[in-house]
Amino acid sequence: MKLSLSLAAYSVLALGVNAAPTADNGNIGFSQFLGDVRNKANPGPLSKVISASSSNGFQIKAVSKEVVNHITKMYGGIKDASKVSSFVLNGTYVDCIPVNEQPTVHSLNISRIASPPAFVYAPTYPYYANGSTSGGNYTGGPVPPGVVMHGAPSVLSLGLKDAFNKSISCPAGTIPMQRLAVDTLARFSSLKDFLAKQQTGGSGSSGSAASPRSNNPLSKRAENPHKYAVVADYVTNFGGNSWLSIWKPKAWFSISQQWYTVRNPQQTVEGGWTVNHSKWDAQPRLFIFYTPDGYKSGCWNLECPGFVQTTNTWLLGGPFLHYSVPGGAQWGFQMQWKLYRGNWWLFLQGANRYLEPVGYYPAIVYGNGPITKNATLAEYGGETAANSTKIYGEMGSAQFPAETDRLEYHNTVAYQSNVYTAPREESSQGEWAKLGGQIVSKAACYGLMVNSARHYFYFGGTGGTTTTC
Ligand SMILES: *[C@@H]1O[C@H](CO)[C@@H](O)[C@H](O)[C@H]1NC(C)=O
Ligand SMILES: *[C@@H]1O[C@H](CO)[C@@H](O)[C@H](O)[C@H]1NC(C)=O
Ligand SMILES: *[C@@H]1O[C@H](CO)[C@@H](O)[C@H](O)[C@H]1NC(C)=O
Ligand SMILES: *[C@@H]1O[C@H](CO)[C@@H](O)[C@H](O)[C@H]1NC(C)=O
Ligand SMILES: *[C@@H]1O[C@H](CO)[C@@H](O)[C@H](O)[C@H]1NC(C)=O
Ligand SMILES: *[C@@H]1O[C@H](CO)[C@@H](O)[C@H](O)[C@H]1NC(C)=O
Ligand SMILES: *[C@@H]1O[C@H](CO)[C@@H](O)[C@H](O)[C@H]1NC(C)=O
Ligand SMILES: *[C@@H]1O[C@H](CO)[C@@H](O)[C@H](O)[C@H]1NC(C)=O
Repeated sequence: MKLSLSLAAYSVLALGVNAAPTADNGNIGFSQFLGDVRNKANPGPLSKVISASSSNGFQIKAVSKEVVNHITKMYGGIKDASKVSSFVLNGTYVDCIPVNEQPTVHSLNISRIASPPAFVYAPTYPYYANGSTSGGNYTGGPVPPGVVMHGAPSVLSLGLKDAFNKSISCPAGTIPMQRLAVDTLARFSSLKDFLAKQQTGGSGSSGSAASPRSNNPLSKRAENPHKYAVVADYVTNFGGNSWLSIWKPKAWFSISQQWYTVRNPQQTVEGGWTVNHSKWDAQPRLFIFYTPDGYKSGCWNLECPGFVQTTNTWLLGGPFLHYSVPGGAQWGFQMQWKLYRGNWWLFLQGANRYLEPVGYYPAIVYGNGPITKNATLAEYGGETAANSTKIYGEMGSAQFPAETDRLEYHNTVAYQSNVYTAPREESSQGEWAKLGGQIVSKAACYGLMVNSARHYFYFGGTGGTTTTC
């Protein structure tokens, strides 16, 4: 029987067994997938997915017209599906979509893809005066004492092959895109729920805004289904930068990220790494997110029209196969956002020597709103959310930082370092972030320790129940 691979992998994962796909699962090529979605009268493997899922005890709702329409629209720019190559990575299909046929370019009718600005370097020479990290491993710049930060490579750069002997990489001129598999979307109560950053699993999502700022004032915090340990710099900015150490917290949903936001309407540019079980699995994965309207719309990665990806070297939603372990090697990556001519550009640096442009959110995505002129707040730190079992999972490495800096934290506690913002649009000179504003939802569950002088902070903790957190 031909099963959808992602569903098969999901069911096996739920049993805690390695989800390596085998040839028996079948390999649904992009052309067949798209043909099946477009031909709604004869959904092909789709119907098999649904019946297989119920026999595996998974509740898959009937696939809504809304979901099918969304997928059809997203892939509406594909000229020749048979030319699209694909691979399988940790239970998800990834398709190599021609840059000019990607969903955002097609849906928003973008005729010319923008060119990236120069990235912004750290304020204090010699850290990044020429952008160099002086060798493979990150030792320069303001890092916690004793730290050697290993840049985590993009999963596409490891020379891996999938179970079908397909290369885990995409050719030049294409971008890697996690497939909008029908069964993945159908696991959520609605398309809106799938796209959103909000509470999952509970009865009737509250739709509470998922940014730390919406946690203010203090009295409102208890109502927010998300918990935070973040630093906030209330400064007019054109983006910012940090190195994020990567961990694998045990949690239903746990994040280390950056936020650049404005109020009225609340518009955000976000990115970092996340564990999100309802979407994927237990692994930390690269993500971006945006909302133009206080979390009413917007989405993750390439899941709705929004981000225009320009590089074939990074996979949004892809796993980090290198992450830090307590007392062992520390792995991380550098992320930077830079607003330039209305476009919010993303830069990433893993094992490579420099920050490289990945793509951008065009101004039109925000309706040319206030965030396309500048952001008024930059925030950095951790976030968790509970599922219906009302348990907040681990944040960072699950270790709490104490009130004063300690040498041994460097390889046990999660952190972000080299935190600076971009004070001007037409300049590549950064400005150290003022890490004074601190938001910790509940000290019993998560902690934060800021070293303002060295421009980094430790954060994290064990989490707890909705009563204790
Ligand atoms: C994810 O995929 C990589 C590459 O195929 C593999 O090495 C790794 O074991 C997988 N991890 C899980 C949890 O399946
Ligand atoms: C898309 O853009 C082209 C030119 O850039 C224009 O001719 C065309 O009418 C636009 N189509 C839509 C649907 O907006
Ligand atoms: C960057 O600057 C440092 C310090 O001047 C120098 O050692 C290094 O070679 C430079 N790297 C590049 C790629 O120019
Ligand atoms: C970087 O770290 C790796 C792993 O610890 C090590 O093998 C390598 O020699 C280091 N490279 C440099 C340039 O220090
Ligand atoms: C996998 O593909 C390579 C070419 O990319 C080929 O040389 C090799 O024989 C293939 N292996 C199998 C098991 O099919
Ligand atoms: C995890 O991802 C799913 C699917 O995109 C999304 O619906 C959910 O809101 C995410 N979890 C949180 C807590 O944001
Ligand atoms: C909720 O999360 C916990 C652990 O974080 C997990 O064990 C449990 O299966 C999840 N339950 C549901 C209904 O999602
Ligand atoms: C920031 O954007 C606002 C409009 O949202 C504008 O009035 C203000 O002049 C901008 N500030 C800078 C420094 O560009």
